[in-house]
Amino acid sequence: MKIALLGAGGQLGSAIAAALETAGGHDVVPVPRRRLDLEDPTAIAGAMRDIAPDAIINTAGYHNVDEAEGRPGLAHRVNVLSVAELAAAAERAGARLLHVSTDYVFGGGPARHEPIGEDAPAAPLNIYGTSKALGDALAREIHPEGCILRVASLFGAGAPGRPAANFVETTLRLAREKGALRVVGDQEMSPTCTADVSRAVAALVAESIPGGNYHAVNSGSVTWHGFACRIVELAGLDVPVEPISSAEFAAPARRPAYSVLGNSRLAAIMGPMPTWEDALARYLSEAGHA
Ligand SMILES: NC(=O)c1ccc[n+]([C@@H]2O[C@H](COP(=O)([O-])OP(=O)(O)OC[C@H]3O[C@@H](n4cnc5c(N)ncnc54)[C@H](OP(=O)(O)O)[C@@H]3O)[C@@H](O)[C@H]2O)c1
Repeated sequence: MKIALLGAGGQLGSAIAAALETAGGHDVVPVPRRRLDLEDPTAIAGAMRDIAPDAIINTAGYHNVDEAEGRPGLAHRVNVLSVAELAAAAERAGARLLHVSTDYVFGGGPARHEPIGEDAPAAPLNIYGTSKALGDALAREIHPEGCILRVASLFGAGAPGRPAANFVETTLRLAREKGALRVVGDQEMSPTCTADVSRAVAALVAESIPGGNYHAVNSGSVTWHGFACRIVELAGLDVPVEPISSAEFAAPARRPAYSVLGNSRLAAIMGPMPTWEDALARYLSEAGHA
């Protein structure tokens, strides 16, 4: 299968490229920003015609949550208009689009305490989440056979030649530099390892699964504070981790108090996703931190 992979140099894209190579049998065409810049949605139709893929995997996106508050036009071009053009290109070519989205399409509306189902209505709280929700909705409308893969709070090895940059690495660096941490304790989410998402993507791309929403997240949930506590504990660091509120942290963009995703639709196809604790332990061990 010929697969156009957008964002192949990113944290998730590079893990997906590796998983597809391990799975074998695919001709993966990386589509870097220099070949196709999603800030220009008009370039997409021609680029996809040239590649003529059987499947398009889009991991590229504008996901600087705080910066996006001041750059709604950029978020709209990259996360909405370009996603619509990718869906249209996939529909024309009879290719399947697997588009990566986010738990931040949720978080508004009534308070939630149970994992959010695949077909729950989007209720974003910030510009980034709104742009992703709009892109998802257009992709579903234009290309119903496509799959929206919502991921969350990603951690994974960096692309070749790029050091890993994620919450786990930042927590370990700050713990060592500062000897104490203050971490938001009132946002609960689904920490997710890119290696597990990538195995799911490699399985899904080869299957004739129904189009729609899938939650490609590790099982279980925790607050950012609880996640940081487990990271320092498993890394063997004796560092106090104090919980603080979102109000104290005062980030420019609002974030969900609860964005835990239920992943039962994916589990019905490929079995249960590993827990985040298991994924974290594997990541720390493979990165040489534990
Ligand atoms: N990271 C998370 O915790 C998280 C959580 C939920 C959802 N997601 C979603 O998961 C996806 C992948 O995230 P990630 O952590 O792998 O991000 P990442 O490491 O920043 O990678 C993003 C990739 O997108 C490319 N890209 C960005 N803007 C582009 C543009 N205008 N044109 C073409 N390519 C562009 C980047 O290219 P360059 O290398 O050239 O910049 C990079 O290869 C995103 O869609 C994001 O919304 C991420």
